[in-house]
Amino acid sequence: MLFERRVPLFADHAQRLAQTSLRELLNDIPRGERLRQRWGPILLDLSRQKLDNQALDALGAHVEASGWQQARDAMFAGASINTSENRAVLHTALRASVAQLPSPAPREALQEIEQTLQRIDKLVQAIGQGEAASLGLPATITDVVNIGIGGSDLGPRLAVRALAPFHVPHIRSHFLTNVDGQSAHDLMRQLDPRRTLVIVVSKTFTTQETLLNGNVLRDWIARAYDGDERLVARHFLAVSASPAAAQAWGVPAAHIYPMWDFVGGRFSLWSAVGLSLALAIGMEHFRALLTGAAGVDDHFRTAPWQRNLPVLLSLVEYWNRDVQRHTSRAVVPYADLLGDLTSYLQQLEMESLGKQVTPQGDAVSGPTAPVVWGSVGTNAQHAYFQALHQGTDVVPLEFIGVVKPAHPLRANHDALLSNLLAQAAALALGKTFAEALAEAKDGGAEALAEAKEGGDATRRALAAQRTFPGDRPSTVILLDALTPESLGALIALYEHKVFMLGHLWGINAFDQWGVELGKGIARQILPALDGTAEQRAGFDSATRALIEAIQERREG
Ligand code: F6P
Repeated sequence: MLFERRVPLFADHAQRLAQTSLRELLNDIPRGERLRQRWGPILLDLSRQKLDNQALDALGAHVEASGWQQARDAMFAGASINTSENRAVLHTALRASVAQLPSPAPREALQEIEQTLQRIDKLVQAIGQGEAASLGLPATITDVVNIGIGGSDLGPRLAVRALAPFHVPHIRSHFLTNVDGQSAHDLMRQLDPRRTLVIVVSKTFTTQETLLNGNVLRDWIARAYDGDERLVARHFLAVSASPAAAQAWGVPAAHIYPMWDFVGGRFSLWSAVGLSLALAIGMEHFRALLTGAAGVDDHFRTAPWQRNLPVLLSLVEYWNRDVQRHTSRAVVPYADLLGDLTSYLQQLEMESLGKQVTPQGDAVSGPTAPVVWGSVGTNAQHAYFQALHQGTDVVPLEFIGVVKPAHPLRANHDALLSNLLAQAAALALGKTFAEALAEAKDGGAEALAEAKEGGDATRRALAAQRTFPGDRPSTVILLDALTPESLGALIALYEHKVFMLGHLWGINAFDQWGVELGKGIARQILPALDGTAEQRAGFDSATRALIEAIQERREG
């Protein structure tokens, strides 16, 4: 079995590399060239990972022995690889038609996908040309609200923000996610109900947060029409794999766009779940996003592991998690437009890979998903980078940068990029005690002037504090520019990395049973919040005490 033998396989390499610093590894120029690979607009630089040629070869041999190509091909062809739900995993089919490459996906699925794309196209054109009324929508639409959570929110949210420079005029996009009523309350104060189009996105159409927010906005729009249900219905679209539930909730059948069981929520941006994005950037750009993703699909299907970006990215994570035992990874985009990438990846990676048993129900014998966290640079440098440079734990980082910005402020952009490059270099190279001491002696740095005055002990104490261990691994991903195409490619890169890790770790990356327990308990607690002692009695002592505390204070 893959699991029992995975770490011992790499023990010698890990031992050797524990004695080899990144400073030394970076002197090996051919190694660097091997670890820097380009696909289209994406440059993936893994040269600051603690891997040498031998370790990389061992990882390559491991992945080649794992049957990854057959597993990959099974996914693309629509085999039921999500075994706990007996479902195919066909998000790649969602972008196959735009690429005009032969797709192994089932013909039926491809046809349904194409028909849906055409419906989206028609809707986007109609709204863009001010002819929304012809589709039974309000004549004037100025604001689009996407109501959804998790995969029904994070993808469109990420892309709408990332592609702001491509937005069409006259349509503003909003995302209503959390069940915290504050968000709905604030949004309703800001918008005109008669000019608002609401898209309720829910694969299951049972999600509490989404339905509650949907009800709130429906009541708000109803008030603007004195409760005329026919007029209210004009303001609602739905995207769901359960059209009957959407219709029963009140969305007209013609306003419902399908999702399919063969597309997981966190992989669904490319489907009608991306409707709010298509409305924000127009159909041409939406198709460009799909084209970028399809390009990476093709690359993933054809490139050997040595040049295959998703495979390389997964091998590095495998190395950091299984062999080096790092427990988290920080994702730091140096691009405000990519400010939602980290939360998008949290769901994509942690919901997919946060598993502890195999599909056969056996315990995995090694760690799985690391914690993914982070936020945009350079802000992050002024918050938690101190700990990343000098803290006791090593946290691998992922820097994402954009070479050509969508604005003319060159000086800002150069400062941004130079900071990205500097952080990756500083983390890798560090500063030795001797170097820090020499600085103190030379008085090179202004801040060391005091130490220069002081004695040797003072200088040594200060130098110790100004020492950086270095040897801290990072990946740099550089996009030529942030366009619909490069964004599509970037997201597909991560999707396939997740697929590869699911394969290497022997877990099902496409289900999410871990979210169910809490949902069930919340359903039981809800009536007890206004309930009697008898209703509270069934809960554990801590939950009971907190319900009582809420009851005691909330009427005051
Ligand atoms: O958080 C669990 C989850 O099921 C996610 O997997 C999903 O993306 C999200 O909830 C929203 O689900 P739905 O689209 O069915 O409303």
